[in-house]
Amino acid sequence: MQDILDHAVRVAPEALALAGEAEGDWPVLRAVASTTTPWAHDLAALFVEELQRCEGTARFLGAASSDREANLAMWLEKLLSGAPGDGFWGECCFIGLLHAAAGVQSRHVVALAARIELAFAERLFATLDAADALVVYTSFKRLFGVAIGLIVDTATHALQVGMNDLGMNERVVKTMRRVAIRRMVDGARERLPLIDWSDAIAVGIPEIDAQHRRLVDLLNALHAVSAGGNHGQTARILRELTDYTVTHFAYEERLLEAVGYPDLAAHRASHAALVARVGDITARFEAGRTKLDAELFTFLRSWLNGHIRGTDRHYAAYVLARGDGATP
Ligand SMILES: [Fe+2]
Ligand SMILES: [Fe+2]
Repeated sequence: MQDILDHAVRVAPEALALAGEAEGDWPVLRAVASTTTPWAHDLAALFVEELQRCEGTARFLGAASSDREANLAMWLEKLLSGAPGDGFWGECCFIGLLHAAAGVQSRHVVALAARIELAFAERLFATLDAADALVVYTSFKRLFGVAIGLIVDTATHALQVGMNDLGMNERVVKTMRRVAIRRMVDGARERLPLIDWSDAIAVGIPEIDAQHRRLVDLLNALHAVSAGGNHGQTARILRELTDYTVTHFAYEERLLEAVGYPDLAAHRASHAALVARVGDITARFEAGRTKLDAELFTFLRSWLNGHIRGTDRHYAAYVLARGDGATP
C-alpha cells in the first residue's frame, strides 16, 4: 500500500507536466477558493446521484452512500482549496484502490468526472467574468484530470497486482496480456471497415460522392472477404474494384475537361499512377496469393483517403465554384 501512495507522489508531477501545468495552477484555485469550495458538496451529491444510476457502481455505494458522498465532498474541497498538501495524490490512488476492490468501472468514473467538470464550469462561468472563469477552469481541469487519471490508473494497477498475488508471474502475465491484446487488435481491425464513410470524405458533388462511396464499399468488401480467406470472391471484388476505379477516373477526367480544370494534366497523371498500382496488386494476387496482405490494404486505404480527401477536393472546390453542378 505504501508503495502505491509513494508512487502517486512521484508520478503526479510528471502527469501534470504532460498536462501542461503552469506553475500557478494551485494558486489560481487558491485565489477563488472561498467562492468555489462551498460547491464541493453539490458536486459530490451530483456524482453520487449519477453513480447510483449505474448498476455496477450502485453496489459500491451500498448503504454507505452518504459516507461516500461526504468523503468525495472532502476530497473535492481539498482540490478546490488550492492547498491540498502532498497527501492529495496519495488519496487519489487510495480512491482507485477502493474502486478496484469494489469493482467500480473506470469508464463510469471518467464519465462522471466529466459531469463534475461541466457542472463546475457552469457555476464558474455564471459566477466570475468569462476571462477569470476560463483561467480558473483551465487550472481546475488540469489538476482534476490528473487526479482522475491517477484514480483510474491505480485501479488498473491494483488489478494487476492482484493477479501477481495469486501467484501469476508478472512477466508471464505481461507477455500473455500483450499477446491477448494483440489478438484483440487484429480481430477488431478485421471487423472494422477500412474506411468508414462519413460526410467528412464527401467532396460535395453528389455524383462524385456516390462514386467515391461505391469505391469505399468495394474496398471494405474486399477487406472483409480477403480476411475470410475466400480466394475466388476476393479475386472477383478485386477485379470489380479495378474496373470501377477505371470507370470513376474516366468520369472525373471527362468532368474536369468539361469545366476546363487547370490542373487536369496532373490529376490525370495521378490517376494513371494509381491505376497502374492497383493493376500491379491485382496481378500479384492473381499470381497465387491466398490472402491480400496488410501492406496492400494500407496502400489501398491511403490511396482512397488521400486521393479523395486531397487531390479530389481541389477539383471539387473548382467545380463547385463554377456553380453549375456540371456533369460530363
Ligand atoms: Fe475520385
Ligand atoms: Fe481523382
